Amino acid sequence: MDKERLGAINSAVESTKEHFMRTFRKENPLYRYIDRHVLEVEKWAIEIMKDFPQANKNVVLLSVWLHDIGILDRTKKDDHAVFAESEARRFLPKIGVDLETTEKVAHCVRAHRNKDVAPETLEAKILTAADSASHMTDINYIVHIRDDRLRDYVEGKIERDYRDIGLIPGLREKLAPLYVAWKELIKALPDP
Ligand SMILES: [Fe+2]
Ligand SMILES: [Fe+2]
Repeated sequence: MDKERLGAINSAVESTKEHFMRTFRKENPLYRYIDRHVLEVEKWAIEIMKDFPQANKNVVLLSVWLHDIGILDRTKKDDHAVFAESEARRFLPKIGVDLETTEKVAHCVRAHRNKDVAPETLEAKILTAADSASHMTDINYIVHIRDDRLRDYVEGKIERDYRDIGLIPGLREKLAPLYVAWKELIKALPDP
């Protein structure tokens, strides 16, 4: 890839990252978890892409920074993946991202929950698996139980996360001990 193209990609990812950080500062300066979550997703996405050099890195990283951008807006009845899809189509062309890349990102963020829309492309599978892996290696489950009292949700989420890391070969084997340990910990953790 030539230097100029690489520079354009990095600057689009940086602008998207700033957009994300600004959105959260503006909407909820007290929210403690979301930016560290997205950094953890980025770390996993970069790790997974080492085994998939054919993945479009630009699409994956733009998707990382947009996938949860709607998560705090609970006034919308759509889920945050739907919001992220329309936000990708609104925001990315404004910073000069081409239509093809924008549409690829739109699919990744829309499918990241692997719920009503399944991840179809390699990039979408990487995002979904990175998101799920990040829950296992950070404080997501604890935050939801301690702050939001969502124990049933967390028990289901651990199972969905273990299912979704299976989109990337080898990840389940790597994270199986953590999966087992989280289930034990959640069982033992008292309600707040
Ligand atoms: Fe999400
Ligand atoms: Fe996420």
